[in-house]
Amino acid sequence: MTKNNSNGEIAENNTQGRTALWGGRFSDTQAKIMQAINASIDVDKRLYKQDIQASKAHVSMLMHMAIVSKKDGESILSGLTKIEEEITSGAFVFDVTLEDIHMHVEARLAEIIGDPAKRLHTARSRNDQVATDFKMWIREHIDYLDQILLDFQKTLLTKATDFTDWIMPGFTHLQTAQPITLGHHLMAYYEMIKRDRGRLSDCRKRLNECPLGSAALAGTGFPIDRDMTAKALDFEKPTANSLDAVSDRDFALEFLAALSITSLHLSRLADEIVLWSSPQFNFITLSDHFSSGSSIMPQKRNPDAAELVRAKVGRIAGGFNSLLMVMKGLPLAYSKDMQEDKAYVFQAVDDMELSILAMHGIIETLSPNKNALLDAANNGFSTATDLADWLVRVLNIPFRQAHHITGAAVKMAEKQKCLLKDLSLDMLQSIEPKIDERVYDILSVEKSVTSRISYGGTAPSMVKKAIFTAKKEMENE
Ligand code: ARG
Repeated sequence: MTKNNSNGEIAENNTQGRTALWGGRFSDTQAKIMQAINASIDVDKRLYKQDIQASKAHVSMLMHMAIVSKKDGESILSGLTKIEEEITSGAFVFDVTLEDIHMHVEARLAEIIGDPAKRLHTARSRNDQVATDFKMWIREHIDYLDQILLDFQKTLLTKATDFTDWIMPGFTHLQTAQPITLGHHLMAYYEMIKRDRGRLSDCRKRLNECPLGSAALAGTGFPIDRDMTAKALDFEKPTANSLDAVSDRDFALEFLAALSITSLHLSRLADEIVLWSSPQFNFITLSDHFSSGSSIMPQKRNPDAAELVRAKVGRIAGGFNSLLMVMKGLPLAYSKDMQEDKAYVFQAVDDMELSILAMHGIIETLSPNKNALLDAANNGFSTATDLADWLVRVLNIPFRQAHHITGAAVKMAEKQKCLLKDLSLDMLQSIEPKIDERVYDILSVEKSVTSRISYGGTAPSMVKKAIFTAKKEMENE
């Protein structure tokens, strides 16, 4: 075997790849290490459907514009169909020396149909090709993720309906703050997912311009019809600047940014699941489907799936940061650095899909413990704010003073080891003589939640309205 001074082993010559596609300028073979760093086929083979679809649209346009003859064009189209079948069935042989999916398809096309294959790459480049394929892939996965997020929202609505008036403590600083309803808590996540879907849809809108026909960077001298390819591939219109078209990866960054926020939302819910399912909280019981046992401690029921959803945000947001760093400072137009873009996006989509489906399953199958939730709401003096508000509203005491009086009442209840509502009127009057019987109307957690009827508030009547509005919104989609 020949040795290359600086690069170690030289790869065996590959007649299919280098010689057939771009070997004209070279007389020597690539080092193996060059092939290893250069190849992206292991990653970008996932673009094969989009690559073939875009090639078909391209060659149809070339035929329409009489740049490629009908005969050659038809032969290219049928060859492409065959290649798609081969890849889908697993019969296709991938070869690292052929670098990427675009070269694989073209090389195989030459094997199948011979000379006409050489006309496919007229008036395009891998630079506009890859940008087009990648946009199409992301677009398809935006639609898929949107669908599974919508399914998840539906389950959140069903559960919010089931638990509209189940009382639980609401927290700030993870300290019991005020009583809320479980339905209200679940609807908070409904709102988050709604924004997540909005971000995906914004990203899709901006992404939907077709780069194909920008060629390497400067456009082409062939009389192509870019509107025709854009339309054939379901893009809104062709991209307006060829340099921008081949060097832009905003769509991938926006997509990753949107997924980072979605996975962050799921990680917050996942953390609540972890906390709530612990024996200390005992707010919920996870179904067997979404918990696992310990190999050593028989009593345990671990929320592994929720913990992993909580962790996934690290990979997804990590991918976003990585791609930002890849793109930082790249001069126009295409640079090979950009080939690294796909791995982050593919990984993020895989992680996102798992996270959404797992979280959906967890929420769908868990059982909340009504009494534990209610006890926890009762036990943290969660109606203290209601008492302070009552002192202001009914007795016209200034809020700061009311806050002080309430603090003294909490201290007294703590000392008596009882709830605020169990303090006798005498006791309350020893703190503030103006307090009367009516105070007991507001000291219970039930009264507290039903009173929170401001728009967006936790009262079951308001939660019902929010669910109704949400259902309407979804019907109109
Ligand atoms: N595999 C490459 C990528 O994903 C395709 C574009 C290559 N273009 C080039 N001029 N080398 O970015």
